[in-house]
Amino acid sequence: NKEPVKTNIKCSLKGLVLGVFEKEEEEDEGTLHLTEAAAGFDKSLSGKLSELLKLSGPALKNGKSRVFYGLHKDFPCVALVGLGKNNAGVCRTENWDTSKENIRQAVSAGCRLLQDLEVSHVEVDSCGDAQSAAEGAVLGLFHYDQLKSKKKTKVTTQLHGSADVVGWEKGIVYAEGQNLARLLMEAPANHITPTAFAKTIEEKLAPHADRVTIHKRPQAWIEEQQMGAFLSVSKGSEEPPVFLELHYNGSPDSKQPPLLLVGKGITFDSGGISLKPSASMDAMRADMGGAATVCASIVTAASLKLPVNIVGLAPLCENMPSGKATKPGDVVKAKNGKTIQVDNTDAEGRLILADALCYGHVFNPRAIVNVATLTGAMDVALGSAAAGVFTNSDWLWEQLHRASVVTGDRVWRMPLFQHYTKQVTDSQLADLNNIGKYSRSGGACTAAAFLREFVKAPHWAHLDIAGVMSNKDEVPYLRKGMSGRPTRTLVEFAAGLAHNG
Ligand code: BES
Ligand code: ZN
Ligand code: ZN
Repeated sequence: NKEPVKTNIKCSLKGLVLGVFEKEEEEDEGTLHLTEAAAGFDKSLSGKLSELLKLSGPALKNGKSRVFYGLHKDFPCVALVGLGKNNAGVCRTENWDTSKENIRQAVSAGCRLLQDLEVSHVEVDSCGDAQSAAEGAVLGLFHYDQLKSKKKTKVTTQLHGSADVVGWEKGIVYAEGQNLARLLMEAPANHITPTAFAKTIEEKLAPHADRVTIHKRPQAWIEEQQMGAFLSVSKGSEEPPVFLELHYNGSPDSKQPPLLLVGKGITFDSGGISLKPSASMDAMRADMGGAATVCASIVTAASLKLPVNIVGLAPLCENMPSGKATKPGDVVKAKNGKTIQVDNTDAEGRLILADALCYGHVFNPRAIVNVATLTGAMDVALGSAAAGVFTNSDWLWEQLHRASVVTGDRVWRMPLFQHYTKQVTDSQLADLNNIGKYSRSGGACTAAAFLREFVKAPHWAHLDIAGVMSNKDEVPYLRKGMSGRPTRTLVEFAAGLAHNG
């Protein structure tokens, strides 16, 4: 009657992800280009790995992976991943760094394959760029299963065969920032209410209390501030609105004008009285993607201790129909005194942002960047390839564009023509109309023109992220679901500002 010996093989399973480049044009079919770490591992096994790799089928294509078992006593499972051509570098037509994208894609595929095999600890080849490898691993392994009984294997990761621990850890922090935004966006709207959103961000910033101040402004404050446009959206809901204000003081010069980030925080967009059709309405739980990416990028900036000052603003509320809700044709007054005829209550993002943008000017910011899942028209225009950037500043565009080439999480410049301004300044009853008067065409541009009416600063950019809000399978290193884009680009942009003083 011996007790059975309790072993938990799954818990101790360790895996390894190693990279292999594609052969060059002129080379023979069988030529292998292992990364430095993979070559080292192969050598320690007297060439067994390269031998098996050649035996096991055709050369590994970019982003594809293959697992080998029992090769090494420390690593029962080894995933080989295809990295594409070596030194692919920055691609001007794609507007991203192909080498970095290939690494993110390949490492994520390898990690995920091992996760499916219930491997709980994975060591990862830097593949020549430890930051991109870490991003691929941490983004690829993220899965929102908080509310499921059966969960995917939790996988811990570690750098293998490279000394670039700094790059690796930076990549982990960047990717965890994006995963925080994904978590907030994916979570159902009955869990992430305005109050719960603010509490989550407060908790995430708690370890950085020495450099961070948080204000969770309640309804009474919003009323005092005369944010009539924001209140006109929140008033249809039973959930109280919150105006979240974050101050990250990272610059050694406490007087340095801050970067102002403003995020649309509609925790659920039903459309209000201009009710949306029910198909896919559930996706509107992510209509706080602007607030999520902005707040997550501030949490990340704080973790990295970036030497820059940032103020983050997130007007948070639900957009709901009810007996108290704003009706089409109602006229409301924004903080700056401008009156707005609300002809469509589903064009609510621009209303809450209008007041937040007015308020933001009190901080005398060096630049204002607002981020919003603002229009379906943005998705029609660019799809999920890039976030649209509407800006009055060539300098700001350069900064955002540079950052997005590094992260691979692209932005693309869009126009701010008077042509669109005419559409929103012609209102029968008020100074402005919240939808284009003459046509639906160019809806993303019309929305941007509306926001511009609330901006006096010379360096302002509006990012319409509606098209990049969710992922099906376009970005291979993000699973299907809410994307958390472009958190890493915002962090990289802030890091750039910190670097340039
Ligand atoms: N949150 C939506 C925009 C949206 C649509 C984001 C799809 C992500 C995916 C926004 O509040 C909205 O409803 N905009 C309207 C504006 C229109 C009424 C002028 C739209 O795009 O249809
Ligand atoms: Zn809407
Ligand atoms: Zn919306």
